[in-house]
Amino acid sequence: MRPFLSFSVISTFTVLATAAAAVTAGGKKPNILFLFNDDQDLLLDSLKYLDSVTERVQKDGFTFENHYATISLCCPSRVALLRGQHAHNTNVTYVSAPGGGYEKFVLSGQDKDYLPQWLKAAGYSTSYLGKLMNQYGYYNYDIAPKGWDHFDGLLDPYTYIYNTPIFSLNGARPRYYQRSHQTDVLRAKAVSHLHTLINSGQPWYFTVAAVAPHQQFNETGQWPPVPATRHQHLFPGLKAPRTKNFNPAVQRKPSWVGQLPVMDQSAIDFADDTYRRRAQALQGVNEMFHELLDILEAAGELENTYIVFSSDHGYHIGQHRVVAGKMLPYKEDTNVPFIIRGPGVPRGQKTQLPSNHVDIAPTLLGFAGVAEEKQPVFLDGRDLSDYWKPAGIAPEKVETVNIEFWGFGLIETATGGGQSGNTYKTVRVVSKEYGYLYSHWCTNETELYDTVADPYELTPIPVEAAPRLHSRLNALLLTTKSCERDSCRNPWSTLHPDGGVSTLADALDPKFDAFYESLPRVAFRECLNYLLKENEAPFYPKNVEFGEKYRDKEATDGLFTGSTGPVRVPEVGNFGDKYEPLEVIEERARCLTDDELVGTAGSVDLRSL
Ligand SMILES: *[C@@H]1O[C@H](CO)[C@@H](O)[C@H](O)[C@H]1NC(C)=O
Ligand SMILES: *[C@@H]1O[C@H](CO)[C@@H](O)[C@H](O)[C@H]1NC(C)=O
Ligand SMILES: *[C@@H]1O[C@H](CO)[C@@H](O)[C@H](O)[C@H]1NC(C)=O
Repeated sequence: MRPFLSFSVISTFTVLATAAAAVTAGGKKPNILFLFNDDQDLLLDSLKYLDSVTERVQKDGFTFENHYATISLCCPSRVALLRGQHAHNTNVTYVSAPGGGYEKFVLSGQDKDYLPQWLKAAGYSTSYLGKLMNQYGYYNYDIAPKGWDHFDGLLDPYTYIYNTPIFSLNGARPRYYQRSHQTDVLRAKAVSHLHTLINSGQPWYFTVAAVAPHQQFNETGQWPPVPATRHQHLFPGLKAPRTKNFNPAVQRKPSWVGQLPVMDQSAIDFADDTYRRRAQALQGVNEMFHELLDILEAAGELENTYIVFSSDHGYHIGQHRVVAGKMLPYKEDTNVPFIIRGPGVPRGQKTQLPSNHVDIAPTLLGFAGVAEEKQPVFLDGRDLSDYWKPAGIAPEKVETVNIEFWGFGLIETATGGGQSGNTYKTVRVVSKEYGYLYSHWCTNETELYDTVADPYELTPIPVEAAPRLHSRLNALLLTTKSCERDSCRNPWSTLHPDGGVSTLADALDPKFDAFYESLPRVAFRECLNYLLKENEAPFYPKNVEFGEKYRDKEATDGLFTGSTGPVRVPEVGNFGDKYEPLEVIEERARCLTDDELVGTAGSVDLRSL
């Protein structure tokens, strides 16, 4: 039970309203189609190249303009979404060991208790197609990820090589879809499976997780994405938007980003090439989305299906002098598209209230008719369908977003670069009246931006200029960086359990000066690439659990050393001059040979679990 009066009132309404929405006229629970892209930005206008979403989901749906990924990196962001918990509570904090990776997710037992299993318990069939998370690969594919009735996953390291699509269906020997483009294979599989689901008569939850517009990562480096050949001529001359923070002449940033030189012409050309190829790579995805929506429409299922569109995190191209990549606390990397259309969702409306990926699990469970008290106790987020409820039910005072990171910060160019120990804690405050970004880096440097006056996050406000504001944001970060459950949803109430403070504006009252000045500063002992409790103390409240009760902590501490196997199937060309149906694509496909399956697996045999 959530202890706050305002919340229990909201909850009662939510449960009633959700239960009413859960079964539509036909008596069948609504389906959920989750369209989940990889590295797709919101702020660099990538949605312009996806009219399936803007014309057919957004116009008829509800847009969350201030939706944030709580960690700007694929694997930890996906685990946070699927478990409904911040990365500091899953301790899957990076794409590889020791911080994270697929094997850490499995070893910690979190794969036995996550979103697909919860939806199955609610009567849904569950399907996943495409990229799940990093280091699910050709060396550990054979135990299919748990929870899915149908799991057809891309295998590492080929996930990021657009013309070497290799999938494993339900743990079967991997199939190499030679001479096909990855997005075309994904589309053919998605179309075929959607027909199967519609014919099944059971309510279904289906995630289609494209890799586009992610960079191509292969043995020689990080490259702009490789679109299907039929799209490679599109948008000639298209350049990365010259936002105010694109390659700024003056750089006022802490940590390694602060040391970056101005981008030279070749770096700018790479940034522009990346931008144009991302727009091209999205065209295959756009065709797929249109076709899936057409199928739902023709089958009369569109109005009984929630369509959810998002991305694991955002992307920057030249902002703050970083040529290409994610992994930073700034807005381009963390503010992501999040749009829902479906039964009972208002059409063409939007909200500025902040939300984030840990809110998605409770929201989808709400769509499936799972009452709040039946949801897992460890969820850190809130049901976002409250956001379109009438005043009085819709929350008014949500304003904090937790954002965090541990590990290497990669510059995604051919030559790479970046820095280890790109570790920081961030809190964002988003309200109608004000907005701030406050970060504390593992170097103990801090940065504070007024995101209303300085939306491009260029000019930090020094401590001396706003000591009261700094003291409040330090306290808020002290709470959010280790929050769980209610302290994530209502951090101001955690700081003020007697009530009276539910926003930053309330907390700025000078009568609280002594309290805030008495609290310790957020600190890191050293720059580590993973979460170690001792390294990140102090916390507020003092005793925090980091979700340890809800996962097998012992199984992953220390021993875990997974790695991605070598590329054994070489790239043989560029494909996709025309889109072909699955039968034709399958005719060319073959299974991987024993030789192609020899890899350097992770250190642990997942079969023993
Ligand atoms: C950060 O500050 C804390 C508290 O003052 C100190 O103990 C710690 O050594 C500092 N860490 C670094 C990386 O400078
Ligand atoms: C998180 O994982 C790291 C690396 O395996 C481990 O050393 C650490 O103790 C874990 N932290 C928590 C809070 O479980
Ligand atoms: C890696 O990808 C780049 C960009 O598409 C391509 O030019 C290069 O040939 C690829 N490398 C290998 C080893 O296939």
